[in-house]
Amino acid sequence: MENKIYPVPAEVAKRAHADAATYQKMYAESVESPDTFWMKEAKRLDWISPPTKAGNWTYEYPDVSIKWYEDGTLNVSANCIDRHLEKRGDQTAIIWEGDDPSEDAHITYSQLHDQVCRLANVMKANGVKKGDRVTIYMPMIPEASYAMLACARIGAVHSIVFGGFSPDALAQRIVDCESTFVITADEGLRGGKKVPLKQNADNAIEIAAIQGIHVEHVICVKRTGGAIGWEPGRDIWYGEATQAASPDCPPEPMNAEDPLFILYTSGSTGQPKGVLHTTGGYLVWAAMTHQYVFDYHEGDIYWCTADVGWVTGHSYIVYGPLANGAITLMFEGVPNYPDNSRFWQVCDKHKVNIFYTAPTAIRALMQHGDGPVKATDRSSLRLLGTVGEPINPEAWEWYYHAVGNGNCPIVDTWWQTETGGHMITPLPGATDLKPGSATTPFFGVVPQLVDNEGAELTGAASGNLCITASWPGQMRTVYGDHERFVQTYFSTYKGKYFTGDGCRRDEDGYYWITGRVDDVINVSGHRMGTAEVESALVLHPAVSESAVVGFPHDIKGQGIYCYVTLMDGVEATDDLRKELRNHVRSEIGPIASPDAIQWAPGLPKTRSGKIMRRILRKIAENDYGSLGDTSTLADPSVVDDLIENRQNR
Ligand code: WTA
Repeated sequence: MENKIYPVPAEVAKRAHADAATYQKMYAESVESPDTFWMKEAKRLDWISPPTKAGNWTYEYPDVSIKWYEDGTLNVSANCIDRHLEKRGDQTAIIWEGDDPSEDAHITYSQLHDQVCRLANVMKANGVKKGDRVTIYMPMIPEASYAMLACARIGAVHSIVFGGFSPDALAQRIVDCESTFVITADEGLRGGKKVPLKQNADNAIEIAAIQGIHVEHVICVKRTGGAIGWEPGRDIWYGEATQAASPDCPPEPMNAEDPLFILYTSGSTGQPKGVLHTTGGYLVWAAMTHQYVFDYHEGDIYWCTADVGWVTGHSYIVYGPLANGAITLMFEGVPNYPDNSRFWQVCDKHKVNIFYTAPTAIRALMQHGDGPVKATDRSSLRLLGTVGEPINPEAWEWYYHAVGNGNCPIVDTWWQTETGGHMITPLPGATDLKPGSATTPFFGVVPQLVDNEGAELTGAASGNLCITASWPGQMRTVYGDHERFVQTYFSTYKGKYFTGDGCRRDEDGYYWITGRVDDVINVSGHRMGTAEVESALVLHPAVSESAVVGFPHDIKGQGIYCYVTLMDGVEATDDLRKELRNHVRSEIGPIASPDAIQWAPGLPKTRSGKIMRRILRKIAENDYGSLGDTSTLADPSVVDDLIENRQNR
């Protein structure tokens, strides 16, 4: 299967923005003359004052600094809305599909302008100023994108927190970026179930206050009309306030390097870090990748199934598509509600041409066979995409044949919150596909594989994936902690950006991402730091110590396996297991639910007290044959006990 190749269909190449020859030529220019190349690409945006230079960066440890288009001035919301008004004012910008199949809406570019200006004015009237951080904790409703664009319009920095995160996780993010303004909704709706967003926000605000951050205002959208708490003076109804506001709000001129947003993401150590993206380079990157990778053409209906709480939603539901004047579909619901045909029903209903989702969703649907897919037409589909984790060739083939009827190229896009947009990915008109491979680098991307000592590996090889040159969409810093930025990404292999991923390059120069090589696990495409789950577990009074690792999971890609040492005298029961699972859910959120909890009277440690995770991973994977050397353990017998009591999942 590995050597299977799907060549570019001639008609796809003909229509595409880039065929193979164009890709080769542009790629060469992008890495040989980056300044010329990126100055040309800057022209895809409308600048208030155009930049006179492209990149100005150094990866030199420890003085890492990254700037792009640093003397340019622009506004992201003007680029995503205003500049389209003349030509596309009455064209749909956003198609919204509700959780309930009977609910949908079309929002034109003019309506988007009206809504964004009104909200921007409400925010200004309530004290939000340029540079202030605004926390957005919302369901997948159009108001979430209005909120992002309204922040961008007035120069406020948004920090979106995924609606599945708990009050504690939300509070932690509010406190970290000292955000005193929150936009939320009464309740979210997913798969027919309600999510108490306002109540969670209220709780989070209380927790934040104890830590010294006092939220001044909460704007609340009425989504379900459910009963919620209300604090007069602090809380503002979105509908009433925006209706009363002026529909005209001039966009704030922003420097290209002014912050656009913060997005928290998990790393191998400590609490999630605030990835900071700035204005000019990010938007060039989001717009350009959206155009080339999805081969977007005027009028195409494009659907990315991500949530705006993740980077994929930022770059490929909102900023990239809207900068390109595209029609972008936003979906409130889930793939299996009301039934397993939902994705494909939505494709038929809105005549979707380009469909972008995660391998975990494909695997979950594949379980139910071809029936739910074949019950739908899907003839509008032209291109499919995936993101978030490696896609196994079986799932790739099913996606290609069952969903795409063998007619739609698949773009397997490798990238990260940190990279702002696609990095290694096929271009549909240029790249022959190999199922399971993210294929080749996008323009300007210079990947390098290195061994554990940092020596470059050439030709066909497996190693740690680094990037050696900056690109416009790269994150600029960790919010409030530049030192952590430098340490996390530039200290392991000096002079290079280290991605944290392992990767193989084959004899054709194709890249195959093998997954994280650090203590980050990827659960259903969501990044989770094992340290975060461990910290949550030890907060429980019954827990003395814990170690968390990932293990292969058929649907989720990776599952969460927890080894837990209990306090003396605490009885290990199934009820306690349940309680700990709920405890982690309430500390972090349902996405962090442990799949297995094993009682561990002792953990394998070196004599200096370091937990040997390698061994714990092998036990969780059921792979005892290759435990490696255990003689350096302080007490080798704990390993036998762990093997004996391994949890069957
Ligand atoms: C993984 C999501 C293989 C990878 C955009 C990366 C992938 C992490 C792919 C980033 C892919 C993402 N193939 N692995 N196509 N896409 N990953 O920050 O391990 O949520 O480092 O960004 O997901 O996850 P993040």
